[in-house]
Amino acid sequence: MNRRNFLTAGAVASSAMALGVVGVASSCHADSKSTIDAVANMSRRTLGSGAHSIAVSAIGLGCMGMSYHRSFVPDKQAMISVIRNGADLGLNFFDTAEAYGPFVNESLVGEALKPIRKDITLATKFGFKGGKPSVGLDSRPERIRKVVEESLGRLQTDYIDLLYQHRIDPTIPIEDVAGTVKDLIAEGKVKHFGMSETDFSLTQDGLSLIRKAHAIQPVTAIQSEYSIMTRQPESEVLALCEELGIGFVPYSPLSRGLITGYINERTKYIPTNDNRPTLPRYQPEAILANWPMLDVLKEFGDQKGLTIAQVALAWLLAQKPFVVPIPGTTKLAHLQENLQAANYKFDADELAKLTADLSAIEIVGDRFS
Ligand SMILES: NC(=O)c1ccc[n+]([C@@H]2O[C@H](COP(=O)([O-])OP(=O)(O)OC[C@H]3O[C@@H](n4cnc5c(N)ncnc54)[C@H](OP(=O)(O)O)[C@@H]3O)[C@@H](O)[C@H]2O)c1
Repeated sequence: MNRRNFLTAGAVASSAMALGVVGVASSCHADSKSTIDAVANMSRRTLGSGAHSIAVSAIGLGCMGMSYHRSFVPDKQAMISVIRNGADLGLNFFDTAEAYGPFVNESLVGEALKPIRKDITLATKFGFKGGKPSVGLDSRPERIRKVVEESLGRLQTDYIDLLYQHRIDPTIPIEDVAGTVKDLIAEGKVKHFGMSETDFSLTQDGLSLIRKAHAIQPVTAIQSEYSIMTRQPESEVLALCEELGIGFVPYSPLSRGLITGYINERTKYIPTNDNRPTLPRYQPEAILANWPMLDVLKEFGDQKGLTIAQVALAWLLAQKPFVVPIPGTTKLAHLQENLQAANYKFDADELAKLTADLSAIEIVGDRFS
């Protein structure tokens, strides 16, 4: 057994024991390969359909916070170690973007994943002038091509598994964006197409943009904010994904750390590298007003042996089989905790009750200003 399988088997056994997973705990004494396969199958999901699909771990890793927007920037070697340990635990879906840093996060992820590049799914994004969201949007075809060349270099690879448009650029027809990605796929530089926050577009009808893009180049995944605190995707885009056979990747599934209990009204941020101090939901009074949500999650988790973060992630996974959240973390302990959430299966009654209890709480503070 190689190191990866050994660690996966260990994670399997501990997950099964911690969570009482039916069928897995009882197979722990079976040969290790079938145990590993059982969990690998259980915790894999498919984004997209047919030739445009990818099989990924049920939970991915958002790498942004290792460099960008989450206050501290940890030691690079420590983050490489977190990423590689995540892969050892069976995680195979990694999310970055040109804009994270900008650039440095792609370099970190590329270096960390180079030794196991063929075994994993790597997602990145284009869409901003000079890679900087503060400067403006840019999805011109020539810019998309330039970003892809530069991202390939930083990621130390010759293909991107999933390339997202980070934000809609209202000056560029979506057909041109989808057409450019289609050409890049034909050239082998990109494998699959994704769109991010399209459904939250303030300037255009995001759902019709998804349909138009999908008609040119089938979309493998929509990535948007979705969590117990941000449930807008439930109103329309999840149904559209189901209809068109598109996967859905919730970003900020822990609401940037709020849905863990680790952030409270006294939390201090480093404002030069954190967007949370500018967002209504992270103001002290909103954090206190929303605390009943954490109480509901904690009460449920206390009965089931789960942490608040695990209940939040398991709840997302229970919404649709094509949902693959990408929580971010800089800690191996949090990563292990988050991955184990994929092993919890709600029964229908408890899911309905938990959802009703959560829906009864009015969330205070918008996700963006
Ligand atoms: N497409 C887009 O526009 C977009 C926008 C934002 C983010 N994203 C993607 O989504 C990923 C995740 O989003 P996010 O980082 O904004 O939010 P998130 O995943 O909801 O929360 C991340 C925060 O939660 C903390 N955390 C994670 N697991 C924890 C646990 N088990 N216990 C306690 N704290 C925990 C992390 O701190 P520690 O490091 O201390 O664990 C981190 O500060 C990003 O990395 C990025 O790839 C995409």
